[in-house]
Amino acid sequence: MSATTHTRQAYGVTSLTSRHPDLRHLKKQQTEPSIHGNKLWGSCYLLMEYLQKNPLQDGARILDIGCGWGLGGIYCAKTFNASVTAVDADAAVFPYLNLLAEHNQVAITTSVKRFEHISQKEMSRFDVIIGADICFWDELAETVFHLIDRAIGADVGKIIITDPQRPPFTQMAERCVDEHYADLLAIETSEPRRFTGSALVIENN
Ligand SMILES: C[S@@+](CC[C@H](N)C(=O)[O-])C[C@H]1O[C@@H](n2cnc3c(N)ncnc32)[C@H](O)[C@@H]1O
Repeated sequence: MSATTHTRQAYGVTSLTSRHPDLRHLKKQQTEPSIHGNKLWGSCYLLMEYLQKNPLQDGARILDIGCGWGLGGIYCAKTFNASVTAVDADAAVFPYLNLLAEHNQVAITTSVKRFEHISQKEMSRFDVIIGADICFWDELAETVFHLIDRAIGADVGKIIITDPQRPPFTQMAERCVDEHYADLLAIETSEPRRFTGSALVIENN
């Protein structure tokens, strides 16, 4: 089997289809992620679409929150030579993130942490915060809004959260538009297939 069998390319990053032997092997060995971090979600491609049109500075320091399999951060490391820290509440996502990072030949720092426990001081070490599909339960609207508040207090330069427009995200995003001068943009991808949704963007200058 060639190296490209059961892989997919989009936005210059490689992902693995469910039939890829490395992924099958990992799924047999690992505990299944339990907070929806069990696959790559379309919103990570919405993030890449936004970033392709609005590139980040080379070498930016990025915090990928609710990273899951981490493809958004991997894209940033590969495309912008970014230094990426990926955090998630569920440690079971990291073997998948590490596998994809290996296939993309980038290194990502990982940390198990809940949104509620990421402090303003920790966030002050980053230029940009990214997140894809992280506001999917009602209670997460409040949690993510407060995280964004702390990020603004920490002088993080830019915050970008993409979503397929789930109601808790929309509620949180509209509050950010009212209180933090955020932009809410419609986004659509054509690769690896069509995904639609929004990007919440806060420029904190
Ligand atoms: C729908 S998945 C999206 C994963 C990834 N961003 C993507 O686009 O493929 C949501 C992720 O958020 C994580 N998550 C959920 N609640 C969290 C919390 N309170 N703190 C940190 N991570 C959380 C889950 O473990 C999961 O990996």
